[in-house]
Amino acid sequence: MSLLSPAPGWYHKKISRDERMWLVIALLLCIMLFIWMVMWHVYGKQNPSNITYRTNTIEFANLSEAYIKKNMVGLDKGIPVVRPEPNSDVIVMGQMWRWSPVLILQKDESYNLHISSKDVMHGFSIQPVNMNFQIYPGYDYVLKFKPTETGEYKIICNEFCGIGHHTMIGKIVVIEKEEDLKLYGYENFKKAPAVTPVKKDEKLSETEMALMGEQVYTLKGCGACHKTDDTYQIAPSWKGLFGKEEKVMENGKEISVKVDEAYIRESVKTPQQKITVGFEKTPMPLFPLTDEEIDLLIAYMKTLKK
Ligand code: CUA
Repeated sequence: MSLLSPAPGWYHKKISRDERMWLVIALLLCIMLFIWMVMWHVYGKQNPSNITYRTNTIEFANLSEAYIKKNMVGLDKGIPVVRPEPNSDVIVMGQMWRWSPVLILQKDESYNLHISSKDVMHGFSIQPVNMNFQIYPGYDYVLKFKPTETGEYKIICNEFCGIGHHTMIGKIVVIEKEEDLKLYGYENFKKAPAVTPVKKDEKLSETEMALMGEQVYTLKGCGACHKTDDTYQIAPSWKGLFGKEEKVMENGKEISVKVDEAYIRESVKTPQQKITVGFEKTPMPLFPLTDEEIDLLIAYMKTLKK
């Protein structure tokens, strides 16, 4: 509603020459930008043509786990490190709150990164070159990647994905010569896979079980929340946890429990049953672990003494 009515017949008045000229210029600009948009996609150097496949989180998680198991050459702060072959398919998984694995790539070689998320939407932002991609669960996003400069690149998550969002930082290291590995403290990360396959039907010693438990811890991503030193942020640290008395909430009541094998088993299978006091805001998600894997994790936890 307006206080003043427009002059009668204003709609049929001819528009002035100036106005007509600006309208034509604006139209031409629109057409030009539209054509440029299509050309940029073809000729622009940094726009990847998005190839995306449908997948699901369980399928992709299995793929990622198998990939890391097969290609791992070492660990960097609990995150597996791989050195993919040029032109190979590389599986990269984002999850609350880490990117895995760390990649060592060769300068001027190209790689097909397959990126997906295990839980919620994350942002895959390669810094400092500032290339940004959105990563959704359920989609396998294929990124043709050819690093042309050596150095250490960080993968910053730039979509808010929960309380640990700011800690979600991955790493890509681009090298030219084998000696470059030294710059990053990676000199021991030679090409051969570090993981030996497990022989079935053989009784494992406690030490072997603990070592394999550490591997499960790494591969399944427990370390994203549970640290193994004195630090804790999202979840209790595993250091000195086994055998400890913990205060937990069960059905709204605070009780005291002893962290033993039964308690750990229950915590993995029904994480919402008992929640450790102080960590109510960051409940543990359900992890599909086999009984065997839980045994290995327990063996590993037992070695983490205060
Ligand atoms: Cu992942 Cu923010």
